[in-house]
Amino acid sequence: MAVWHAPGRINLIGEHTDYNDGFVLPMALPMGCTTSVEDADDGWSVVSAQASGTVTVAPSGLADREQVPEWATYVLGALWLLHDDGVDVPPLLISVDSDVPTGAGLSSSAALVCSVVCALDEHLGLGLDPSGLLSLSRRVENDAVGAPTGGMDQLVSLRGEVGHALFCDMRDLTSEAVPFEPAANGLTLLVVDTRAPHRLVDGEYAARRRGCEEAARLLGVRALRDVTDADEAVSRLDDEELQRYVRHVVTEDARVLAAVEVLRAGRIDALGPLFTASHASMRDDFRITVPDVDTAAETLLAAGALGSRMTGGGFGGCVIGLVPSDGVNAAGEAVRRAFADAGHGEPALFTAEAAAGARAVTGL
Ligand code: GLA
Repeated sequence: MAVWHAPGRINLIGEHTDYNDGFVLPMALPMGCTTSVEDADDGWSVVSAQASGTVTVAPSGLADREQVPEWATYVLGALWLLHDDGVDVPPLLISVDSDVPTGAGLSSSAALVCSVVCALDEHLGLGLDPSGLLSLSRRVENDAVGAPTGGMDQLVSLRGEVGHALFCDMRDLTSEAVPFEPAANGLTLLVVDTRAPHRLVDGEYAARRRGCEEAARLLGVRALRDVTDADEAVSRLDDEELQRYVRHVVTEDARVLAAVEVLRAGRIDALGPLFTASHASMRDDFRITVPDVDTAAETLLAAGALGSRMTGGGFGGCVIGLVPSDGVNAAGEAVRRAFADAGHGEPALFTAEAAAGARAVTGL
C-alpha cells in the first residue's frame, strides 16, 4: 500500500498567466488530500471519505471509459491514461480523503489528482521523475476531466515548500522557492472564502483562454508571455475585449516578477500594492471577479490590509489580504459585516501559511 498527501494552494499573484506561458507565484496550503492505493481482487475501485458508495470500473483506456461521478474521474483519470500509455495496471482500491473545500478556488482538484498520481507512482513502481509526475497530473485534469487549466495548481501541489512561495516559469516549468513568511514581519495572510461557487469547467475560463490564444495569434507571438510592451500590443488589436485580456496578462506577468523581487529583498510589505493592482486588473481588464469577491477585497483594504486580491480562476472563490497581524480579527469582522450588509452569503475566514508539497505518508 502507498499513501501520499498533496496540498491545495493559494496563488499569491499571477492569475491566468500560466496558460499564457507566463509567471505565477503560488504557495501550498496545509490542507490537502490523502490518498492510499492498494491491491484489490477485481477492477479499479475508488472510495472517497467525502462521497458515499464505492465506484468500481473495469480496466480500460480513456476512449472506452465508463461513466462515473465527476469526482471519480479525477482519480480514475490517471488509471485510464496509464492504461493508454501501455502500463499494465492491476486491480486496485484507491481511497481518498480531502479537507480542501471544493469550489473555493483552492485547488481541491490538484490536491486530489496529485496525491493519486504520487501514490500510484510509488505503488506501481512507475519511477516518474518530477516532470513526469507533473505531466501525468496535468493530463488527468486536461484530458480525462476536460478542464482546460494551465498547470500552476499541479506544479505547486507537487513542489511547494514550507515557508516559501513557488516562483514558476510556466513555459519551461522550472520553479524556485522564494521565502514567504508574513508572520516574521508582523503580517498575516488572511483568506476570505466568499463561498460564491466557482467552476473551472464552466465556459468563462475556457473563453478567457481562447481569447488569449487568439490575441497571441493576431500579435504573431507564441504566447502572450512574449509580449513585452502592453500598450504597443494593444494598439495593434481592434477587438476591445482582446485588448483588455492582453493588458491584464502582460501587466500581471510584470507584477509577478516585481513580487518575486520584493520577496527576495525581504520587503514583504511591498507585496501589498501589487496585490491590489492585480485585483483591479482582474476586475476591470480580465473581468473575472464577482460582487462578493470585490466586496471582500475592498473591505480588507478599508480595514487596514496592505493589499488584497482574488486568488484562483475567478467568478467566485477566495480573496487574500496581507493584514497586520494585530488587525486580523477586526478585518475579519469587517468582512462579515460587509457581506451581511450587501446581502452576500456568509463567508468563511482563515489564515494561511505556506506548507509543503506532495509527500509520502508513513507510519499509518
Ligand atoms: C485555475 C487553473 C490554473 C490557473 C488559475 C488562474 O486555478 O487551474 O491553471 O489558470 O485558474 O490563474
